[in-house]
Amino acid sequence: MPSSEGIFIWITKNVRLDKLLSNSTSFTRSQAKFAIRGGKVKIDGIVAKNAAQQVTEESNVEYMGVAVNKAQPRYIMFNKPTGVVCANKDKDHTTVFDSLFLPRIDTLHIAGRLDIDTTGLVLITDDGQWLHRITSPKHDHKKVYLVALDSPITEKQIRILEEGVQLKKEKKRSLPAEIEVIEDQKIKMTISEGKYHQVKRMLAAVGNHVVSLHRESIANIQLDEKLEEGQWRELIEAEIQFD
Ligand code: URA
Repeated sequence: MPSSEGIFIWITKNVRLDKLLSNSTSFTRSQAKFAIRGGKVKIDGIVAKNAAQQVTEESNVEYMGVAVNKAQPRYIMFNKPTGVVCANKDKDHTTVFDSLFLPRIDTLHIAGRLDIDTTGLVLITDDGQWLHRITSPKHDHKKVYLVALDSPITEKQIRILEEGVQLKKEKKRSLPAEIEVIEDQKIKMTISEGKYHQVKRMLAAVGNHVVSLHRESIANIQLDEKLEEGQWRELIEAEIQFD
């Protein structure tokens, strides 16, 4: 069964509950029945017991405690494992969306893609204005990365990163990064831009090399420690109203 924590359901007409679940998600019909038998599905606050039960437009269907409302925009945080790509479709790799088990994935967008080998916080939404607000360079939202390095970071490298680095094929220097040294070869790096391979390119430009990269936060939205790799949850109101 999928390990994700919630599923939105798009209700269009009266339909059997198990059919609705399998139509709206990546559950097979038997997985849907299994979820219902397992008491994971509620209709109007009451645990559904019968897979054949009819649900209507007005029914409030929940899966694993997540309220379902087709009219409301969706805001999701995902803990991306390595090997998963931030794309809607990919013929060779698992995508972020393959991991979500959500309906209408074509309406969802990733707010700030990560490389295939980068782990950590990925935000996903179908709210275009919110997407723009969180990704627009004008807003300069800080992104915090935990970076493992090939060789020990030097004072000189830190100084250059904190002044801003001239990256190849960029007209302007990158904005200054904030560096916190955790160990010789492990730093926390905060940047407010989101250029392609930015962290890796900045470290390469000062003569170091990124061994692994993990995004911890975007603006004041922190990756939830309770989310294991590959799991997701909805954002809470305070996160949706980020600053
Ligand atoms: N910077 C990178 O180099 N890669 C990422 O995935 C994110 C930021």
